[in-house]
Amino acid sequence: PRKIIIDTDPGQDDAVAILLALASPKELEVLGITAVAGNVPLDLTSRNARIVCELAGKPETAVFAGCDAPLERKLVTAEHVHGRTGLDGPVLPDPRMPLQDKHAVDFIIETLRAEPAGSVTLCPLGPLTNIATALQKAPDIAERIAEIVLMGGAYFEVGNITPTAEFNIYVDPQAADIVFRCGAPITVMPLDVTHKALVTSARNDAFRSLGTRVGTAVAEMTDFFERFDLEKYGSEGAPLHDPCVTAYLIRPEIFSGRHINVEIETTSELTMGMTVADWWRVSDRPANATFMGDLDADAFFSLLTERLARL
Ligand code: BDR
Ligand code: CA
Repeated sequence: PRKIIIDTDPGQDDAVAILLALASPKELEVLGITAVAGNVPLDLTSRNARIVCELAGKPETAVFAGCDAPLERKLVTAEHVHGRTGLDGPVLPDPRMPLQDKHAVDFIIETLRAEPAGSVTLCPLGPLTNIATALQKAPDIAERIAEIVLMGGAYFEVGNITPTAEFNIYVDPQAADIVFRCGAPITVMPLDVTHKALVTSARNDAFRSLGTRVGTAVAEMTDFFERFDLEKYGSEGAPLHDPCVTAYLIRPEIFSGRHINVEIETTSELTMGMTVADWWRVSDRPANATFMGDLDADAFFSLLTERLARL
């Protein structure tokens, strides 16, 4: 299996991404889960990450708390999407498993140094603060990273938290800038892809009909998460942003995209956090990321339902 570290700010869609990874031990070995402030503050994201591991029946998973604020800007959260706890919807028990003592950033650095070079993939599902801090503290880790597969940014879909920025990049643009310049191979799941991964009512019924605790909890999470997108975009279901990352690691052939130059806006307040993605290759700036543009949504949801059934 591919060794991964999931860096996350759960979040209902983060939760589903984590469940998918934990349900797929043949393909993915989760070395640890590192929490970051994002959708809600760090105390809640580090708590939610443990709630999700216990829901998956994997309380032995190591969960670490990381940075509680972006590198330079004030934390912006998204309770308007995810609810007060970040994981509103299902009623899940308080976590009993411990939070590890080590700081998430040190875990990321030590793991990349301890494992063979090129064997660990980072999967950021929230603001990039933990990853950027690790790169700043230990620049030697950049060339040891197998790949960074992250959810963030947008091109045609432009923005969801401001007219021109996607939430994860907007919350910590300075961190995103460091990550996109770090030289490691980067694969991006932008809104252009994730807005095609819509939980229609038939897809949600498939989760609920699993008749398991996990199936019911996921259906309740997406029910909650959905009301926001229905009101805002009039779309036919909630976009499952973050599970695109873990699905890609299991079934990359479901996705397609382009290897292009992507730079992050860090100065203009108007377009702060915009991913300036050279989709049409009109500049001569070197490609630094594979920006996904499309996915086979039916194959994505079949994979998800089939894997969630295993938990
Ligand atoms: C991203 O922002 C968060 O609200 C979601 O969890 C996802 O990671 C989508 O813009
Ligand atoms: Ca997230």
